[in-house]
Order: sequence, then C-alpha cells, then structure tokens
Amino acid sequence: MKTILSIVLMGALSIVNCQLSIAQVTAVLHADQAGSVIPKEIYGQFAEHLGSCIYGGLWVGENSDIPNTSGYRTDVLNALKALKVPVLRWPGGCFADEYHWMDGIGPKENRPKMVNNNWGGTIEDNSFGTNEFLNLCELLGTEPYISGNVGSGSVEEMAKWVEYITSEGDSPMARLRRQNGRDHAWRVKYWGVGNESWGCGGSMRPEYYSDVYRRYATYCRNYDGNRLFKVASGASDYDYNWTKVLMENVGSRMDGLSLHYYTVLNWNSKGSATQFNEEEYYKTLGKCCGIEDVIKRHIAIMDFYDPNKRVALMLDEWGTWWDVEPGTNPGHLFQQNSLRDAFVASLTFDIFHKYTERLKMANIAQVVNVLQSMILTNGKQMTLTPTYHVFRMYNVHQDATYLPLDIQTIRKEVPDSDWTLPMLSGTASRNQQGKVHISLTNVDLQNAQEVSITLQGINAKQVSGEILTSANIADHNTFDKPELVKPAVFSGATIIGNTLKVKLPAKSIVTLELQ
Ligand code: AHR
Repeated sequence: MKTILSIVLMGALSIVNCQLSIAQVTAVLHADQAGSVIPKEIYGQFAEHLGSCIYGGLWVGENSDIPNTSGYRTDVLNALKALKVPVLRWPGGCFADEYHWMDGIGPKENRPKMVNNNWGGTIEDNSFGTNEFLNLCELLGTEPYISGNVGSGSVEEMAKWVEYITSEGDSPMARLRRQNGRDHAWRVKYWGVGNESWGCGGSMRPEYYSDVYRRYATYCRNYDGNRLFKVASGASDYDYNWTKVLMENVGSRMDGLSLHYYTVLNWNSKGSATQFNEEEYYKTLGKCCGIEDVIKRHIAIMDFYDPNKRVALMLDEWGTWWDVEPGTNPGHLFQQNSLRDAFVASLTFDIFHKYTERLKMANIAQVVNVLQSMILTNGKQMTLTPTYHVFRMYNVHQDATYLPLDIQTIRKEVPDSDWTLPMLSGTASRNQQGKVHISLTNVDLQNAQEVSITLQGINAKQVSGEILTSANIADHNTFDKPELVKPAVFSGATIIGNTLKVKLPAKSIVTLELQ
C-alpha cells in the first residue's frame, strides 16, 4: 500500500504510540457561517423491479406467512420508517423503459405477466403496480418519484399514467383509478422522462433524446393542482457532453437533470463485496470521492447555461456495485454490504452536502436486496446493512442548515489513479430546533485520529454521539449474525471551552450532537 504522499492542508501531526499512531488533526466549525439547507431528498432511495427488491423485499402480498401490512413486509416497513426516507424512485432503472403501467393495475388475477428482460429474464406477475407503489409511499410518508417509460412506451401511455395518478376530475383515467378502488388522486411531484436513455433506455444520442424529451414532457400535464417536477434522463459518470447537449436543447423545459455514478473500478470484474484487501478498500473509496469532481464538472456546465440554478441536478442512482453473491442469480444483482460500503455512504454524503445549491436529490441503488441496499431479506429473515446505519445516523442532517467544517487532514494518493482520499472526512449542520450535528469519518484502517475542533459561533456545553465500527473492515451482517455491525453509544468526545475533542478509532464513523 502506498504511504501517505501529500498533505493538502496544514496542521496534521503524527504521534507514534507503541505500534499504532494517533494522528492529531485540527478543524474549525464555522457555525456562524450558515450555508444552504441540505435538501432531505439527497437521502432518497430507489426501488426497482430487480431480483428480490420488490417481490420478497418490499412486497410479499396479503396472503403471505411473512408478517405483512396489507402485503408490505412489516419488518421492512418499520425499518424504512426509522430511516425517514424522503423520496422513493420506482419502477427502475432499466426496468422502467420496458414497464407498461396498465399491466400493473386492476384485479391482480387479471394482470398479465411479463418477462423482466433486463434482470435475469424473471417472470414478473405485475402484482406490485402503481396503486401498490403509491400506497407504500403513503405508508412511509415518502415522496414518490416515478420513472416513465420512454424507451419502449408511447407518449399516450405516459400521458395517461400521469392522468391516472393525478387527475381528480371526471377524466377517463381518473374513472379507471376509481374503478380500481382509489377515489382521490395521489400527489406526485417527481416524474422521470426516461432512464439512461443513452443505454438501456433506448440507446439514443443526446441530440435525439433532447427532442424526444420535449415531446414526452409536453403531454405530462399538471392536473388539479398537482405540479410535476420533470426530470430529464441524464449522463453517467464522465459524459459531460450529454449534460451540455441537454442543457442547450432542453434547458427551460426540465426541472431536473439526472446523473448516475457507481464506485465500480472494473466493470468486467467488480470484485467481491466481502473479500477485499487494503488496496481495494482505498481504491474504492478513491473512486467514491471521485464523485466530487464529476459533480463539480456537471454543475459547471449547468451553471453556464443556467446561472440562476433553476434546473436541479438529480443523482438518481449511486452507490457500490460488486459481483453478485456466489450462488445467486447473476441477473438479480444481490450483493452483501460491509463496513466498507458504510464508508462509501458517509464520504458520499460529506461531498453531497457541499453542492446542494444545485444537487437537489440523490437516490442510492437500491433500497432492498440489490446493490448498496439498506436491508437484506431471506424469507422471513431480515438484516439491516452497515449502509442502513449510516443513513440512519446521518438523517439528522435532512433539511438542516449546512455549516462549514474545515478539517485540516492529510490526503492519501490512491494507487493507479488521480484520486486523493481525505483520511478524515466530515460534515456539519444545524437543525430546525437549533441542534448542531457533526459527522466524522476516520478512513484510516490502522490508526486512530484525534481531532480538535474549534467551535466558532456556537456555545455548546454537551456532546453525545453514536459510532459505527467493527473489528474488520469486511465485517457485514448476515441472517445468522444480523447485528455484527451496528451503531453504539460513543463516549470519545468532550467539550472544553470552545474546543471539541473527538478521538476516532481506526475505521470508524461518528455522528455527534452538540447542545
Ligand atoms: O441499478 C442497476 C441499473 O444500473 C439500473 O437499472 C440502471 O439504470 C443502471 O444502469
């Protein structure tokens, strides 16, 4: 493993203590320089008809012997409620551009089956459709984000879907909805006009998709006080040209433009979720932090065409993507989730918080049983992943005011790349009740770090917190050991005068509350 090569900011010292070193780090919390509100929607989730995300994960049906609430798994519902999911994207992903919504309404026994061509050729029985999704959002108190079918669906089909969901009047689709047992329209704000339209969503070029977007979006109407927030299908990773062409040609007609970014280092061999070495760990976190440059560059293009920041950047797919778990269907993308995944989540949020003047939503892929999931299920069993715990520990930042936290950390150069990785990362905010929260991540696998944070503009007397760590970075929760990795009370922080001192063990994530 390469040693630390660069010091980006001053002030980091290493004190050798027996075999291990404890890096002394300084930081300043500028509580007197409040930034913008961190939109809760950057903590969004994504539910796709893929593997056992929907069937078995969220939905088991009313007749299942798995305890359920009107067909939704009760254990999963409760876990998601605790997470405070602000927005849920559905039904895909690639699935969305082959999904015909009319197949998923009405009496279940009459719903036609389809082949899920994108994801293992599994037979989809359409028992979870529009009503089931929107009712789930109501149960969770979450905002729905629907991805419409542009790739293989018609303009008429999409227009009618909007009408079915949001029209209160005596319109044909509202009547159909009433026949299906739902009297009042739902409120749906976020509407995706296609997904990955450069790939599984239709293999289009950006110039062509721009016109297609304009056509489909024209007929996505605002019914009866419902106001759609229309999201154009955006780029993946480094495809800055896609963003440029969309901003040039569609600019004023979209409310949001999406972006997808996964931490994959090699698409031909993504690596195991649970068996990896130190170098792979640091490389993955390097790729994770590489999202900052990608976000900045897409934002710079958007700023050029839209200096008033009217169009939102919507990172509606992100996260880790490993090889599937041995013995599982390769088309179902079922992966484990270790403490390394938790670090990807915390570092990513630390970055997101800095760009929320433009970045208004993010949706990790996917909520249950697929990529970097919150929850894994197996029959009646369920376990929460380390990533879930980070989402729960960080949800104190939802809709809170961003506070700059300047950490004078060393940065590690990531082998074979241009990425550098902060060894200590963090973020801070003040919530509507005036409480300040600070989240800190010690990326270092071997060494503890002691950080002295000068508190400016806040007179805090008490600190409490939670920590997420484990003996090994590859530790993960299984159905046999569902609580191997879980948060614990943290007592390593003290306040003396205007200095907050925090001793972070190696490979740990902490969230503190100051009062
Ligand atoms: O998240 C899995 C797939 O990744 C999604 O369906 C697609 O949009 C992306 O390529």
